[in-house]
Amino acid sequence: MNLKSKDLLGLRDITAEEIEYILNTAKTMKYIITTNNKKTAHLQGKSVITLFYENSTRTRLSFELASKYMGANAANISASGSSVQKGESLIDTGKTIDSMGSDVIIIRHPMSGAPHLLAQNVKSSVINAGDGMNEHPTQALLDMFTMVEKKGSLKGLKVAIVGDILHSRVARSNIWGLTKMGAEVNIAGPATLIPPGIEKLGVNVFSTVQEALLDADVVMGLRIQLERQKKGLFPSIREYSRFFGLDDKRLKLAREDAIVMHPGPVNRGVELSSMVMDGDQSTINEQVTNGVAIRMALLYLLTRRGTANEVID
Ligand code: CP
Repeated sequence: MNLKSKDLLGLRDITAEEIEYILNTAKTMKYIITTNNKKTAHLQGKSVITLFYENSTRTRLSFELASKYMGANAANISASGSSVQKGESLIDTGKTIDSMGSDVIIIRHPMSGAPHLLAQNVKSSVINAGDGMNEHPTQALLDMFTMVEKKGSLKGLKVAIVGDILHSRVARSNIWGLTKMGAEVNIAGPATLIPPGIEKLGVNVFSTVQEALLDADVVMGLRIQLERQKKGLFPSIREYSRFFGLDDKRLKLAREDAIVMHPGPVNRGVELSSMVMDGDQSTINEQVTNGVAIRMALLYLLTRRGTANEVID
């Protein structure tokens, strides 16, 4: 099987079969990083560049480690320390990186659609590492991978996503991906942080966290994204935590064996209580490990597109 596009720009654009294929490849990659001395030669001779216009810990580092574990040449650019500061455009920056022989460019940008613009203007494969309020597809893939590991299948799984849905590219990618894979998605958040018309994407919308959590298999908290908010429009941190924070009492509404997820970074004590964040049901650290496996799988599949040796052994 081939991934259809040279790029991974969002889960809106890919099929359930492609998602399944990426998750299966990540299973092999996880085996490699947990049992095989973290070294393969699958990307030998390839160059992978991360181009980040916003801050990151998990996404950027996991792409860098994934590239290095597979033998690629890996380099990073932050917009804040590059010629972007002298006025160079995104397209010109992309063409400059392309001209140095990059095979994959991984971009995070505050504007929705920036990775799509870059992809149209470079030969390299482009991976969206988060664009504005639009999508964060690799985060949703690692979330789905973690759900499959813990729950066996996405089909029929009841997933509650709680908090700042409006600004969350993680929520949006998870909604596209999970609904394609047959999961049932409940969302809840302050009325000002629920995007109008979101129910058209096939999710159940609730105004209280209690309703959304009832009998859920997976509970996902979200960071309140103050950096994307317009002043005065939204609840205070205290109100957000009081009405939509996840504590052990609320978690009891979900299934007894429910898992708790969060893409990070977590505002400890705001969207998750310390007890929930550090508790037995939390998969936050496993999500981080799985992020490396998913990014290895994507780098492998995108650089091997169209070659005979596409199925990893
Ligand atoms: N989940 C996520 O994107 O984390 P970073 O901002 O640290 O990359």
